[in-house]
Amino acid sequence: VKRSVVIGVGHYLPERVVPNSEFEKTLDTSDEWIRTRSGIERRHFAAEDETTSDLATHAAEAALTDAGLKATDIDAVIVATSTPDLTFPSVATMVQARLELTHGFAFDVQAVCAGFIYALSTANAMILTGQAQRILVIGAETFSRIMDWTDRSTCVLFGDGAGAVILEARVGGGTPDDRGILAVDLNSDGRYKDLLYVDGGVSTGTSGHLRMQGNQVFRHAVAKLAQTAETALTSAGLSAADVDWIVPHQANIRIIQGTAKKMGLSMDNVVVTVQDHGNTSAASIPLALSVGKARGQIKPGDLLVTEAIGGGLAWGAVVLRW
Ligand code: ACO
Repeated sequence: VKRSVVIGVGHYLPERVVPNSEFEKTLDTSDEWIRTRSGIERRHFAAEDETTSDLATHAAEAALTDAGLKATDIDAVIVATSTPDLTFPSVATMVQARLELTHGFAFDVQAVCAGFIYALSTANAMILTGQAQRILVIGAETFSRIMDWTDRSTCVLFGDGAGAVILEARVGGGTPDDRGILAVDLNSDGRYKDLLYVDGGVSTGTSGHLRMQGNQVFRHAVAKLAQTAETALTSAGLSAADVDWIVPHQANIRIIQGTAKKMGLSMDNVVVTVQDHGNTSAASIPLALSVGKARGQIKPGDLLVTEAIGGGLAWGAVVLRW
């Protein structure tokens, strides 16, 4: 049985770290409010001349080093992002060029905070159908570029960063104990567009800023995330009791805690990075995978469920044996 197995992981965070206290200077907010409502303590912001493709390339290089591979060993690059350098070409083709790859193919996937789940699902399908053998799957964002710095209800929540994994086609036993992606569940419901969107874009001839009805998104988050995680686990023939680590999208500690509780799991089984990164949208899950591995939390053979929800609304989960 063919499976897509993660053989490398890496991440990159811009140098500049911004603590909550920095927002107290310009906004009617406090470190206390941000910590207790979101769990965020600090975030990284990209330098003025640093773009999403820069962050993505650094994360890709770290994942290649982790896997012990050269860039030329890769045959496809998929980048999940909602904050590309340019309208086109894709960030993925920019990364491809930076890695000096001239074979294979590269493209972007856009599903906002669920982007990495969608990208992983796409990469998995391409590996299973034989379209590629080794795919770099990257989540990279510069959400600092779409913040309204006068809106305290959004601008304190987001950060910049990138994470990457390398998926490789492997043939094995095909049981839930064998490594690789075991199941995927994707969902979206476009009726909820107004809960979370950017109020500008190419076809409307405008640029814009992120707008979010945070408490409304919150209301959907826990139920939908627990549901998609359960659906993916069930289709893998597993249940929450089998899970070693939930690696959730890092938007808000209260959503992360609520989802774990609804799944009947302890916070000891959750990789949490939101305090250090804020919400990095499509980058948050690969960042958490990389940091979780570096901390010694995620070990070979562990059963992971990753889940995310974001603008669309779009949400989903991936179950994998690390
Ligand atoms: N500092 C101080 N007060 C604030 C701030 C701030 N930074 N921001 C909002 N407030 C105020 C509000 O104005 C409101 O005041 P009011 O009661 O006088 O009107 C009060 O705090 C409560 O506001 P709520 O929005 O109800 O607060 P809530 O407890 O819901 O927390 C939060 C807000 C953190 C945004 C939360 O709702 C949340 O995390 N939502 C989900 C976000 C998310 O998961 N997004 C999806 C992924 S992102 C993506 O796809 C791009």
